[in-house]
Formats: sequence, structure tokens, C-alpha cells
Amino acid sequence: MMKIHHIGYLVKKIKKAQDAFEALGYVAEGSVVHDEIRKVDILFLEKDGYRVELVSPYAADSVVAGLIKTYKNSPYHICYEAEDFAADIAWLEGNGYIRMDEPTAAPAIEGRKVTFFMNPALGMIELLEGK
Ligand code: NI
Repeated sequence: MMKIHHIGYLVKKIKKAQDAFEALGYVAEGSVVHDEIRKVDILFLEKDGYRVELVSPYAADSVVAGLIKTYKNSPYHICYEAEDFAADIAWLEGNGYIRMDEPTAAPAIEGRKVTFFMNPALGMIELLEGK
């Protein structure tokens, strides 16, 4: 079964958000990655075994430019790591999840592929290709 990989968290100012999370005891994993596919800056932080992904749009045509206007600074997806990427996509599509994009490499996660789904009861989730 899929395992939780991270909670995606939209933020307007990534450095200020990093400082605020670090003040709560989160520790950054690496440094900010500039994702030119999605036009977002990304930083992972960890605390108590939980991983949070800060996602901050840097251009007006970023994939999350619309979302941040709605949600402001807020968690907005849970990412699950696939055991079998193709099989898990098929399972989600067969269980009420609508795929929102094609699987695309994620520079902030070792270039592994990710794809997003919408579920009418749960909202948005992300599926990450396993190692
Ligand atoms: Ni994510």
C-alpha cells in the first residue's frame, strides 16, 4: 500500500516560512530547490517523523498561482509514495480519483515522477514514484 511521504504546504514567502517552521523545531532537508517545470520554490523540512514540503510560487503562471490566492499560507495536499507507480495510478483512477496531470519529474525529489489527483471527498493528493 502507498505510504505517506509528505504534507504539501503552500507559502507566500519561503524564507519566512522556513524560519517560522524552524522556530517550531523543524529541520530543513537540504536547501531550496527552484522547480522550473512548476515555477515554484520547494523546501522539505522534518519534525517528529513528519515531513512538510513548502511550496512557494515565484511566477504569475506557476501551477499553484491560483491555489495560493484561495488558500493563502496553508497545507493543501498529502503526498503518497507508490509501491508500484502504474498499479497505484490505476487503483486511484478506479476508486474515484480524477488525475489532474501527466506524471512529471520532480527536481526536488531526486527527479522521481509525481502526479496529482482530485477526490471529491478528500481534495487533492499527490502520488510519488517509488525508489
Ligand atoms: Ni508535494
